[in-house]
Amino acid sequence: MVKEYLSLIEAEIKKQKFGKKPESLYEPIRYIMALGGKRLRPLLTVLSYSLYKNNPKDIIPFAAAVEAFHNFTLMHDDIMDKAPLRRGQPTVHEKWNTNTAILSGDVMLVKVYDMLLGLEANKLKEVLAIFNKCAAEVCEGQQWDMEFESKPKVTEAQYIEMIRLKTAVLLGFSLELGAVLADAPQRDREALREFGVNIGIGFQLKDDWLDVYADKKKFGKQVGGDIIANKKTFLLIKALEKAKGKQKAALEKWLAARKFNKSEKVKAITAIYNDLSVSAITEKKINHFFDKGFTHLNTLSNPANVDLLKTFVVSLISREV
Ligand code: IPE
Ligand code: IPE
Ligand code: MG
Ligand code: MG
Ligand code: MG
Repeated sequence: MVKEYLSLIEAEIKKQKFGKKPESLYEPIRYIMALGGKRLRPLLTVLSYSLYKNNPKDIIPFAAAVEAFHNFTLMHDDIMDKAPLRRGQPTVHEKWNTNTAILSGDVMLVKVYDMLLGLEANKLKEVLAIFNKCAAEVCEGQQWDMEFESKPKVTEAQYIEMIRLKTAVLLGFSLELGAVLADAPQRDREALREFGVNIGIGFQLKDDWLDVYADKKKFGKQVGGDIIANKKTFLLIKALEKAKGKQKAALEKWLAARKFNKSEKVKAITAIYNDLSVSAITEKKINHFFDKGFTHLNTLSNPANVDLLKTFVVSLISREV
């Protein structure tokens, strides 16, 4: 079933042209959208809708809008993070240039609103209100993420709030959108959103873990990018908490270094993470937030048919990309 939903989403994305001229404005959009990816967020929308209705085809264009929004955030995120690779291919600002990536991203966001204009009038206002709140929060989270790069001390609580904003609220929105479109009870809408936010926090924790420990051949992004950029990931925060003596000094030396060999830094900090068992602590935290998410899912009014959604989300815990 998930496969069927996925192919409906892919077909919808293939259909989108976004615009014609200048070619260099719209081609990067088609490029990033065609690079693939898990299509997690539109799948969550469809799976959530399917808890209440059995005509998921009707909402595929709106699920695709969520994916377009996600890809817009990636295009700009890759500029901010100076990322060379996305889904195994050069990022848009590398393949074209930064200005093109900024403007293509901008128009992409406009196209998301165009896609949402297809909503029924009685849904439009409601959806736009929750979408706009989510989109502003993503920007807030991204700004915290960048500010934390040069902040020596970031607490776990500050980190969790940052990833709730930059990543988790969009998963919450994706699920809530499905529920709103399906006219689900208000209580369920909220439970699905809370489910999404909590698994979204777990999802970003796993993203941070993968940034260090993923298999290069499968990951599709630069392994160690977060270490190079001094991102205050959960792993780094835990390492800074636990490190003592020489290790602490080494960690701080790498964080303060202005000029360094990238792979040397990645290797050295990864070795410190390994010594401090930061990986296991992160895995525990990931499970904690997924478990917390599931407690919300268990409060739905009709929990009988949630298995598909559950199985799909459980598979995210052990994902390799
Ligand atoms: C990457 O999202 C950005 C994060 C919020 C971690 P995904 O891991 O869903 O990326 P794709 O869409 O599958 O490539
Ligand atoms: C990205 O977080 C969150 C958003 C795109 C809003 P990351 O910067 O960790 O995502 P990746 O690792 O580049 O996909
Ligand atoms: Mg980022
Ligand atoms: Mg990034
Ligand atoms: Mg990341």
